[in-house]
Amino acid sequence: MRAVKLGMNGPTVGAQGLGAMAMATDIYGATDESESMATLNHALDRGVTLIDTADMYGNGANETFLGPFVRANRDRVVLATKFGFFPHDDPAKGYFIDNRPEYIFQAAEASLRRLGIETIDIYYMHRRNRKVPLEDSVGAMADLVASGKVRYIGLSEVTGEELRLANSIHPIAALESEWSLFSRDVEESVVPAAAELNIAFVPYSPLGRGMLTGTVKATALEAGDVRNVFPRFAGEHIDANARLVSVISTLAQARGVTPAQIAMAWVHGRATVHGLTVVPIPGTRKRSRLDENLAAIDVHLTDDELKVLEPLGDAVQGIRPVFSDDM
Ligand SMILES: NC(=O)c1ccc[n+]([C@@H]2O[C@H](COP(=O)([O-])OP(=O)(O)OC[C@H]3O[C@@H](n4cnc5c(N)ncnc54)[C@H](OP(=O)(O)O)[C@@H]3O)[C@@H](O)[C@H]2O)c1
Repeated sequence: MRAVKLGMNGPTVGAQGLGAMAMATDIYGATDESESMATLNHALDRGVTLIDTADMYGNGANETFLGPFVRANRDRVVLATKFGFFPHDDPAKGYFIDNRPEYIFQAAEASLRRLGIETIDIYYMHRRNRKVPLEDSVGAMADLVASGKVRYIGLSEVTGEELRLANSIHPIAALESEWSLFSRDVEESVVPAAAELNIAFVPYSPLGRGMLTGTVKATALEAGDVRNVFPRFAGEHIDANARLVSVISTLAQARGVTPAQIAMAWVHGRATVHGLTVVPIPGTRKRSRLDENLAAIDVHLTDDELKVLEPLGDAVQGIRPVFSDDM
C-alpha cells in the first residue's frame, strides 16, 4: 500500500488506517475478539499500520485488548489513542470532557499501562473542553512528547481556529474528525486550516458508522448498540437516509463495486480535491471487510459519479452526534 507522511514531521503510515473502536466492546453490537485480532494481524500484513483506539472505548478495555498486538509488532504499528472524553455513569448526564494538564498526564500513564508500551505514537485530545485554555492542554501534550511518553500529538473535533492555535504551540501531526459523504461540515473551515498547515486529516466514521455500506438495518440493531441513540439511525430519519444510501448502492452496482467502496473512494479522493493528506480509518472487525475497504484505494470516482454523490450530504436527516463541554 502507498505510504504517506502525517503532518510536517509526523510518522509515515499506510494510506488507509484501521479503526479498532468496536473490536473489544459491544458499542456496535456483539464482537468476536478472535476475529478482531485476526483482522488486526491481516491489516498489518496488508500494509495498514495506523491503528486507532481511545481510552474511552470500553472504558480502557479496547487498549488492554490491543496491548499484546501492539507489543508484538511494536516496530510496525503506529498506535493512536486519545484522552479526555468519557460517558457519565448515569447515561442521562451525557459525557464529560477533561482537558486539564493534570488529568492529561494521568490519562497518558493509564493508557501506557493498559497498552503495556513505553510510548504512545499519536496522542489525540478526543474532545475539547473550552473551559480549559487550549494553551494549557497542548502545553501538557508537548510536555509528554518532551518526556518521551508520546511521539506525536493530534486533536479530534476542534475548529479550524483551534487547530491553528494548537499548531502554533506544538506541531500537530494529525486532525481526527468525522468526514464522510454524510458528514461534510469540516470542509468549511477545518479542512482548509489543515491543508494550509500541512496537518494530515484522519477521517473517522468514513462509512457513516456503517450506514453508507447499505448493510446496517437500523431497526435490527442490538439493544446495546450505541447507534440506537444516534439521530441519523432514529425512526423518524432512517427511511430518508436509507433512500440516500440507495443512490450510493445504485452507483456501486453500475460500477461493479460495493457501496462501502464508493464511500471510501470518495473520502480518499478528498486529498486531491482539498490538497491535503487524508488517511481514513474505517472500523471493521472482519478480515473480509478490511479487504473490501482497502480495495477502495484503487477506485477513482468519475466526475459524473461525483456529481451524483455531491447532493447527498446536504440531504441527510438528523445531526451527527455532538457532545458538549460538560465537565
Ligand atoms: N475521534 C473520534 O471522536 C471518533 C469517533 C468515532 C470513531 N472514531 C474512530 O474511527 C473509527 C471508524 O469509525 P466508526 O467505526 O465509528 O465508523 P465507520 O468506520 O464509518 O463504520 C464502522 C461500521 O461499519 C461496518 N463496516 C466496516 N466495513 C464494512 C464493509 N465493507 N461492509 C459493511 N459494513 C462494514 C463495521 O462493522 P464490523 O466491525 O462488524 O465490520 C462497523 O459497524 C473507529 O473505529 C474509531 O477508532 C473516532
